[in-house]
Amino acid sequence: MKDTNLADWLLQHLHGEGAMNRQLHDLLLRAVLQGQLAAGSKLPSTRWLAQQLGVARNTVIDAYDNLLAQGCLLTRAGSGTYVAEVEREPPLGLGRAGAHKAVAPAAPTLSRRGSALLAQAGVSARQWGAFMPGVPDVTEFPVRTWLRLHNRRWHEAKPERLSYAPGGGLPELREALAEHLRVARSVQCTAAQIIITSGSHQAVDLVARLLTDPGDTVWLEEPCYWGLRSTLQSLSLRALAQPVDAEGLSWPGRFKGAAPRLVLATPSHQYPLGMVMSLARRQQLLEHCRQHGSWIVEDDYDSEFRFGTRPIASLQGLDGGDRVLYVGSFSKTLFPGLRLGYLVVPKALAAPFAKASAELYREGQLQQQATLADFIRDGHLGNHVRRMRTLYGKRRECLLAAVQSNFGDALPVLGDNAGLHLVLQLPEGTDDRAIEASAAKAGIAVRALSSYYSNPASARRGLLLGYACVPEARIAPAFRTLAEVLRRAPTPLAP
Ligand SMILES: Cc1ncc(COP(=O)(O)O)c(C=O)c1O
Repeated sequence: MKDTNLADWLLQHLHGEGAMNRQLHDLLLRAVLQGQLAAGSKLPSTRWLAQQLGVARNTVIDAYDNLLAQGCLLTRAGSGTYVAEVEREPPLGLGRAGAHKAVAPAAPTLSRRGSALLAQAGVSARQWGAFMPGVPDVTEFPVRTWLRLHNRRWHEAKPERLSYAPGGGLPELREALAEHLRVARSVQCTAAQIIITSGSHQAVDLVARLLTDPGDTVWLEEPCYWGLRSTLQSLSLRALAQPVDAEGLSWPGRFKGAAPRLVLATPSHQYPLGMVMSLARRQQLLEHCRQHGSWIVEDDYDSEFRFGTRPIASLQGLDGGDRVLYVGSFSKTLFPGLRLGYLVVPKALAAPFAKASAELYREGQLQQQATLADFIRDGHLGNHVRRMRTLYGKRRECLLAAVQSNFGDALPVLGDNAGLHLVLQLPEGTDDRAIEASAAKAGIAVRALSSYYSNPASARRGLLLGYACVPEARIAPAFRTLAEVLRRAPTPLAP
């Protein structure tokens, strides 16, 4: 098993119950006993594994030490830790003198859709550093302002604020958002049409649960964000990948074939390629969906950050709010760990969605929602977004300059006029996933463009490079490291 696969597998199985060193020990033991970690294979360094898992290095050292004591691992001086020859799958422990009896936890039997979800999971253990796509600079978040507002709310905390949320979330936040979205994104709605969610993932989950049945067809963009594709597929929906062209989502053989129940699209900034859906295409899509009774989920995840051009008005505004469910998030504008987002639904769906959200998720976090309402109303959200737009604009320039100075025009850049990342296009046939893995070993986080496609055969090759969370001074040196990785890649890439 490759180091990155091992780290991903461990992350999927660390369930948070019991001491972390014990869980890690048990999982590694299981991997050795069941042969996923073959005898003689080298284990990753404790420092690297601890970083990937987000645990203290001592936790990993402790797990390794126990396995060494049990004879499952051995060390070679100056060379690292290796898997020892052990009897596979003994009924109890390892049967070695001196080893304490350890029972490998039984492998859980997952449902078909559970197994499918994990088999295609794209989530990464690493969520910070050069050039992690999709992550804003959380160190720039105005903590003091937030704390002041937060403290004020805690001084006046009422029992209702510490209980479950009313369906849809805190009315004050929904009011503040309705006004903000009207001005900033031309979204037409009242506060009652807004459902506060714990991010876009939950918003899309709620839409799919309420508007589709298992087996229904859903159109997704090809390529698209794997996180939301997983959300939809895990609900047993039939995901049909529709290609994107220069005008955004397209549907060759238009108006033919089964109409989708739902279309998930990113009209303001296609994810991950970056094109904007043209007005003509928006109108065609709305018309098509009206004719077929399909719903459109507009994922407006980062349109606040456009460089040089004005933000494009939402599709929801164009529609007038009948067919479109508008999804937004504070993951990019504030910080992803906040886990707050929103869903704007057509008027007729407002009451059922609010009730279902309370029924399914039993929402809370009202103090946090109250703080956010103040943050928006007092103008801090607008100020922060403006400040970050300038900062990200400079970082984007720096990254473009680094690409130029290393590769000239040999590697074209796509989708750099908005958002928090750009795409470095690689020649057809390049193994961009192997480059992603080599870059990770060199300490650089990138994402292979092909991993956003559901059909690998037609996938374009490239790398997503996030610049938002990388300080300017770090961009050129980090890109030099990446350029080295690219030059060593099997396909000749550049001078
Ligand atoms: C296209 C797209 N939509 C939405 C999100 C954000 O999801 P959430 O709001 O659940 O953090 C991301 C995150 O990377 C994304 O890339």
